[in-house]
Amino acid sequence: MSGELSPIDKAKFLAAKRAVDFVEDGMRVGLGTGSTAAWMVRLLGERVREEGLKIAGVPTSTRTAELARDMGIRVISLDEAKWLDLTIDGADEVDGDLNLVKGGGGALLQEKIVATASDRMVVIADAAKEVEALGAFPLPVEVIPFGWQTTQALVEEMLISMDVLGRDTTLRMNGGAPYVTDEGNHILDLHLNRIGNARELALVMNQIPGVVENGLFIDICDTLVIGHGSGRVETRDINDGTVEDMRLDFVEDDNLFRDLSD
Ligand code: 5RP
Repeated sequence: MSGELSPIDKAKFLAAKRAVDFVEDGMRVGLGTGSTAAWMVRLLGERVREEGLKIAGVPTSTRTAELARDMGIRVISLDEAKWLDLTIDGADEVDGDLNLVKGGGGALLQEKIVATASDRMVVIADAAKEVEALGAFPLPVEVIPFGWQTTQALVEEMLISMDVLGRDTTLRMNGGAPYVTDEGNHILDLHLNRIGNARELALVMNQIPGVVENGLFIDICDTLVIGHGSGRVETRDINDGTVEDMRLDFVEDDNLFRDLSD
């Protein structure tokens, strides 16, 4: 089965495998969304089933909630948990300061709320997600459906005074209709090419009425786990400055590789 996985999927799997080691008995864990996070949920479910690990998971999307339940993880709401020990999630881009672009999978709002409500956020990614400057990946911005075109115009006007290389914005579609998030909102994708000052952009963006949240995660990620198709896994912690380099074996597991639908 492993032969069917691309090097990028192997890298995502290995990053997830390293990250689930951070989860300890009794923890309340934020469960991210996306293909890398889905590996993490599967691997965490395996620890729950095989080791009897007792955790409560707070999912960041309906997709993740469904997968977590299927994997045997006890799912609770953020309101029940109130505060989390750890969140593990993927990212679309990560820079050298561990600032992120997220929301490619449309779950940025719940992801940001959950990560911010956690003692520690661990981001798992393949090496292709590492960038010198954020912005090549279109920046997702969640907007309220009411007057979304006015909001889009305000966002474009605001971008004129920002240090970015591109200013096109597009409404994310799902087939012939606007994409709808779990919160019933739409997403604008901002094609900025390069963001000069992500911190400023994140702050200014959220001042626009109609903008619910943006996909820039500034000073939220504590630990980055980068997987490589070769088996190398690098773990960097921004708080204590440590860097760990290890190799992990890619072991086939029939249970984990069944129903790979995310
Ligand atoms: C979803 C996200 C994901 O974490 C991001 O899109 C990365 O996804 P993947 O792990 O599939 O590459 O932000 O909203």
